Amino acid sequence: MSEQNIAVIRGDGIGIEVVEEGLKVLEAAGEKHGIKWNWTEFPWSSDYYRKHGQMMPDDALDTLAGFNAIFLGAVGAPDIQDNITLNGLLLPIRRRFDQYVCERPSVLYPGVTSPLSGKKPFDIDLVVIRENTEGEYANIGGFAYHEQPDEVAIQTSIFTRRGCDRVIKYAFELARKRGKKNKVTSITKSNALGYMTIWDRAFDAMALNYPDIETNELLIDAACMDFVRKPEDFDVVVADNLFGDILTDIGAIITGSMGLASSANLDPEHRGPSMFEPTHGSAPDIMGQGLANPMAQILTAAMMLRHLGEESAAVDVENSVQKVLEIGETLTTDLGGSSSTSAVGDAIVANLG
Ligand code: NAD
Ligand code: IPM
Ligand code: MN
Repeated sequence: MSEQNIAVIRGDGIGIEVVEEGLKVLEAAGEKHGIKWNWTEFPWSSDYYRKHGQMMPDDALDTLAGFNAIFLGAVGAPDIQDNITLNGLLLPIRRRFDQYVCERPSVLYPGVTSPLSGKKPFDIDLVVIRENTEGEYANIGGFAYHEQPDEVAIQTSIFTRRGCDRVIKYAFELARKRGKKNKVTSITKSNALGYMTIWDRAFDAMALNYPDIETNELLIDAACMDFVRKPEDFDVVVADNLFGDILTDIGAIITGSMGLASSANLDPEHRGPSMFEPTHGSAPDIMGQGLANPMAQILTAAMMLRHLGEESAAVDVENSVQKVLEIGETLTTDLGGSSSTSAVGDAIVANLG
């Protein structure tokens, strides 16, 4: 029996609904695989902001440090500027715990129709490794003459050689571990953004250590095109923070839905808690109606199980999601079904093991 202390932040919108299903499935998997979960829920969210003027308390990051992992839904509400909600909660957590790898798989599962014609199950099976702590998200900048006619806005990107090396190394190691196409594709825009040549140099140097892995380097604009034109070409893709963010929404939709896109913010060295939240946001357009697909959150829960060393439980959860997709009887509207969020969660529990 293993025991896991997990911080749970449901956040906003559909985050609240899909986390419920994630916890349901984790409880059931825990029972089967001998994991005792200790959940501690934190109400940090846009609602918390409306009451307290901040997304989370001053000591929130210290509080989170004591947990084995953080399980998060999504944050963001239409009436609050997104920079307040995201730079007040999500991004500081990624940075504080140095979760420098954001791992985002895109798999075309059996039973799911891609908007791209002629794609068969597993034709698309790629994973984007997104640098998750620096780049354009370093949050260094500000305004001069704020909201005055002569206003100036400046924000600086940061690329460190250490930051490039470690995330690129993770990508190469993952390509080897997957043993699929043994390929890593690096994405930059160093034709226009000269500072990104530091990334290119780091990539070229790292590649020398992995002669068994094929490499490719694409500019982000061409990569966006190829994600649509020939996604089969990709295995592991490594990109900086902003380009990784953009590419993973494309990866999600070509494999059927944002509601299937899992994601993990990882500290591969396990120095502190990693954070598990799907790629999608709080989806205010469908919140509170039982329409959200909980599968992204549940596949994210499987990534958390794997990171916590619970491999067989992780596989069990992934297989159950695949089974429910393949049977095709209990699907939310984004996948052409008419089932509710909680019905999908129940079906995944029923198909475990
Ligand atoms: P979104 O991902 O919330 O939604 C985009 C589209 O995908 C919407 O049409 C939505 O209905 C659909 N969708 C998303 N998840 C779905 C699911 N599980 N099932 C079915 N359909 C789903 O992106 P957005 O609309 O650009 O952002 C909404 C808010 O979420 C914003 O405030 C944004 O800043 C925030 N956001 C937060 C996170 C996060 O907390 N990790 C991530 C992305 C966006
Ligand atoms: C994501 C989201 C976040 C990001 C936003 C909400 C700050 O889009 O996790 O993909 O850009 O990292
Ligand atoms: Mn995103």
